[in-house]
Amino acid sequence: MSHESLNTTELDAPLKQIIYEAGTFARKEFLNFSSNDIEYKGKNDLFSYVDVQTERILKDRCRELLPGSGFINEESENEPGTNGYQWIIDPIDGTTNFVHGVPFFSISLALYKGEEAHMGYVYHVMADELFWAIRGRGAFCNDQPIEVRSTPELAHAILATGFPFKDFSWADDYFQMLKIFMERSHGLRRIGSAALDLAFVAAGRFDGFFEYGLNPWDLAAGALLVTEAGGTVTDFDGGNSYVFGGQLISSNGRIHPEMQEVIAKGIGQNV
Ligand code: 2AM
Ligand code: CA
Repeated sequence: MSHESLNTTELDAPLKQIIYEAGTFARKEFLNFSSNDIEYKGKNDLFSYVDVQTERILKDRCRELLPGSGFINEESENEPGTNGYQWIIDPIDGTTNFVHGVPFFSISLALYKGEEAHMGYVYHVMADELFWAIRGRGAFCNDQPIEVRSTPELAHAILATGFPFKDFSWADDYFQMLKIFMERSHGLRRIGSAALDLAFVAAGRFDGFFEYGLNPWDLAAGALLVTEAGGTVTDFDGGNSYVFGGQLISSNGRIHPEMQEVIAKGIGQNV
């Protein structure tokens, strides 16, 4: 398929099959997983054969589906591609949950052309919820359209975040900021999978989510879910450099200025 003729609607059904295949593998391995199978890339940087093999399934199938496209992925070498399109893949987002038997992890897969998102899929494997979005066509959970919640202000919002796990240099500022959010909102949650956090914002379960220190594969699919569900995604400065810039604020749009203001008071200027 040449990129001029790329029809994202036609790709949707085969992509879902690929994700369900990878998800069936990950689910089976999750239920049999032994802590002896945990491996380390670095401190607090965990992985296992499940991450590696799930990624292999996804890459092999996506390569067949769209020959010539590139890959940005967590567990193997990136590939540049020749047709301008790239798959951005996290085979298991929430690996720390996975290896500890906590059933909140997801498969995140996105198709980008340059820095523009065209398709995004986040599969909440153990709940069998597939969140997906195609550019300009809205966002869905399984067969149901989803949209962000209309919560008008931070005081009535529930928020999610990810705690620092590797770079603790701004931890004190971050905790100060958490305190402000706790005082000014209905509360904070920490799932441990940025892709799922974004899917939950898109589905109106969370009103906002913010984190720093992320990789493109943690948020490439989820960011499209949020924008297609009517929400807003920016970096901490309000700009567009979130997929490759590592830090993002996502929200229903209405509470975005308040979130940005609190983050700017905390760590916004430092990360
Ligand atoms: P990962 O599971 O794919 O690595 C949540 O804070 C986000 O940070 C997740 O998307 C997670 O992606 C990433 N992360 C990486 N290492 C982590 C760790 N030790 N603890 C928590 N999150 C981690
Ligand atoms: Ca991962």
